[in-house]
Amino acid sequence: MIVSLDHIAIAVPDLQKSIARFLEDFGLNYEGSEDAVEAKTTTAFFPVKGTSIELVHPLNGEGPLVNFLEKRGPGIHHICFESDDLDADVARLREKGYQFLSDEPTIGAHNARVIFIHPKSCDGVLIELNEHTHG
Ligand code: CO
Repeated sequence: MIVSLDHIAIAVPDLQKSIARFLEDFGLNYEGSEDAVEAKTTTAFFPVKGTSIELVHPLNGEGPLVNFLEKRGPGIHHICFESDDLDADVARLREKGYQFLSDEPTIGAHNARVIFIHPKSCDGVLIELNEHTHG
């Protein structure tokens, strides 16, 4: 079951500049930066009451975010819903015809299990589902 809006992710071309915006200009808490190796992204998290802003940037200049930034420029990249039973939700949504970007969940930021629903299945919005293994 989907239980919360875990985060909203923004693709940014200059991570340090964007971190400074959210930290200094907007005054949000900066939880730190983390590389999601499987997704080839560097992420930075800013918790805000009940959810988070996630900045995403290509890791070492590689990965799918390079194409995203070239084609579409900076902007909202995905939204992520937290699931309390990821496997059950994936099975339920597959049954309804939803397409996913991978066959199985992978490990994303914060060691969460994550999987992405294809934007074609969701009115053009890339939707991540995650399940926290602890906390
Ligand atoms: Co995310």
